[in-house]
Amino acid sequence: MTIQNVDYSTKIPNNVGLTEDRQVLRALEQWHPGFINWWMDMGPAGFQEALVYLRTAVSVDPKGWAKFDYVKMPEYRWGVLLAPQEEGRKIPFGRHYGEPAWQEVPGEYRAMLRRLIVIQGDTEPASVEQQRHLGKTAPSLYDLRNVFQVNVEEGRHLWAMVYLLQKYFGRDGRDEAAELLQRRSGDPDKPRMLGAFNEATPDWLSFHMFTFFTDRDGKMQLESLAQSGFDPLSRTTRFMLTEEAHHMFVGETGIGRTLQRTCEAMKQAGIEDPNEIEKVRALGVIDLPTMKKKLNLHYSLSLDLFGSEVSTNAANAFNAGIKGRFQETKIEDDHKLENSTYPVLKLVDGEIKRVDEPALTAINMRLRDDYTADCQRGLDRWNKIIERTGVQYRLDLPHVAFHRHIGEFKELKATPDGAIVDEATWQRDHDKWLPSKDDGDFIQSLMKPVIEPGKFASWIAPPRVGIDNKPGDFEYVKIAA
Ligand SMILES: [Fe+2]
Ligand SMILES: [Fe+2]
Repeated sequence: MTIQNVDYSTKIPNNVGLTEDRQVLRALEQWHPGFINWWMDMGPAGFQEALVYLRTAVSVDPKGWAKFDYVKMPEYRWGVLLAPQEEGRKIPFGRHYGEPAWQEVPGEYRAMLRRLIVIQGDTEPASVEQQRHLGKTAPSLYDLRNVFQVNVEEGRHLWAMVYLLQKYFGRDGRDEAAELLQRRSGDPDKPRMLGAFNEATPDWLSFHMFTFFTDRDGKMQLESLAQSGFDPLSRTTRFMLTEEAHHMFVGETGIGRTLQRTCEAMKQAGIEDPNEIEKVRALGVIDLPTMKKKLNLHYSLSLDLFGSEVSTNAANAFNAGIKGRFQETKIEDDHKLENSTYPVLKLVDGEIKRVDEPALTAINMRLRDDYTADCQRGLDRWNKIIERTGVQYRLDLPHVAFHRHIGEFKELKATPDGAIVDEATWQRDHDKWLPSKDDGDFIQSLMKPVIEPGKFASWIAPPRVGIDNKPGDFEYVKIAA
């Protein structure tokens, strides 16, 4: 494996030899001003002049791929970075199993590949748009820096997908690249492509839930694209995963610190019952039942991102060798799935039942199960935090039939425990399971900016360690005067 150094001499830092690839370089340079316009219009509102302590990818070497420094966000060096090419890599699944990985787009799969790249690409700017107002209410400079880090990297992920479109898909690719800058999260006329990416991210609790649950969906999608027989897609997504890990860290520790703060405040005030919501809220922290409702909301929205449980599109993409399973190469089976089955929860005669489906059409379901297991590990760590404070409370994931808009259960009303209920019961009780307007207003009331170095809002504990090992009072963002 050779590691190509990143060329920072061109306008677009890259390790794909853009200087020699004149046509693609020109196409990207033409796209660049539109991207900057989009960033100025739809990127973090009010902080474009601030100096932010950000990491920038300077290599794809797993040891030391990033450097940290102060930078104004519009001057961030968004680059095109692919993981090193693996010598002799073979297609690891599907009907082309064992054939050499493709370095060019196979004609028969061109449309399918383009669609998958565009869908992935669309989520990247969407989340930046969703998060653009959070800066105004950041609970600390540390957190402010973290949202900006996530934002610039989602911007780079857009670059990553646009590079593939421009390099491998000719005119269609250029058109798609242009359209990626035109859709807008939540816009009724030209919305982003996936549901969860059109929801608002109105407060920091939502942001941390989003980076825990929705970025984790992103991780699963990238993991399955990293298996792709189309080698440039595999290499791009492999490097994106390196950055994605930090986004989930921001979410997991953000929620962990919020739980920590709530539990500590409860203990200090001598409140034993987590359901004494008003008393807990009076302490300036977010009560645990509201945390649970937010979790229910974000988890259920993220499950929808996996698509239908049983899907011929997913089967086709697997068969074609375009999109594999989570950790495909570590799975011990034939990697073709011609004769195997996979258990899927389905609605059968009004009951939720486990049904064996052909494993090929249940690809989405399997990825979603891997996702759920990954989420659960995070919840276990959160529960440990609660446990250590001595507060009696547990977080758990709601049933997959709860609050769904896509797939088997979309017509159904079910409780977080998976009990099927009628419409009237749902109408009466859904505020117990999902955040109500009141809950949202309360959370909003806590969203007061804290911009003094080393200080934190009342509802969230400081992190245990600083970014890049900086001390607690480090000025992560120098807000422009
Ligand atoms: Fe991303
Ligand atoms: Fe992300």
